[in-house]
Amino acid sequence: MIFTVAIDGPAAAGKGTISRAVAAQFGFAHLDTGLLYRAVGAKGGDPVRAAQTLSDADLARDDLRTLAAGQAASRVATIPEVRAALVAFQRAFARREGGAVLDGRDIGTVICPEAEVKLYVTASAQVRAHRRWLEVGGDEAQVLAEVIERDKRDAERAVSPLKPAPDALVLDTSEMTVEEAVDAARAVIAARIEGRS
Ligand code: CDP
Repeated sequence: MIFTVAIDGPAAAGKGTISRAVAAQFGFAHLDTGLLYRAVGAKGGDPVRAAQTLSDADLARDDLRTLAAGQAASRVATIPEVRAALVAFQRAFARREGGAVLDGRDIGTVICPEAEVKLYVTASAQVRAHRRWLEVGGDEAQVLAEVIERDKRDAERAVSPLKPAPDALVLDTSEMTVEEAVDAARAVIAARIEGRS
């Protein structure tokens, strides 16, 4: 079965948690596409060359989740050649046999516009910053400033800007528990699978 779940949205909206949970529930493969951009940013040197030569070892670094890596990712993510170098891998992953969940910023709009399910997961900037702060610690006001700066850069860039696909279901998780958000996503996916059979 070819079945793609595209989960897009701003920083720290809960895309990763929802993606991992539904991938496990439906037995789909999961790709966190943000990790690709984080690895390119962390590699240093020429970002285009870094994207073209990205290896498993680059993706296995243990410093990719820091605020600094997030900022570096959103900077290299504005470069068209960097994005282009990562398209084929993501597309092949999306349409692999057995089903796939991809989370990122442009999955439903650019990488896989034909995705069977598209979700745009969001929450208020304050809620998202608080969630990220619980993960990384430090100064919460600083975390909020970073989240807002990154969202602005992601939404305003010329190539593949962050925006909901016209046919995406918007899931605002500001007032939802993790379980509620996962349940909502699972219901949409189950209904789509049901509709196909
Ligand atoms: O986990 P969080 O939502 O904070 O970030 P991420 O998904 O790991 O993405 C890090 C950065 O990579 C984003 O701020 C984007 O600039 C970029 N990115 C992108 O441009 N396109 C994607 N499909 C995924 C991430």
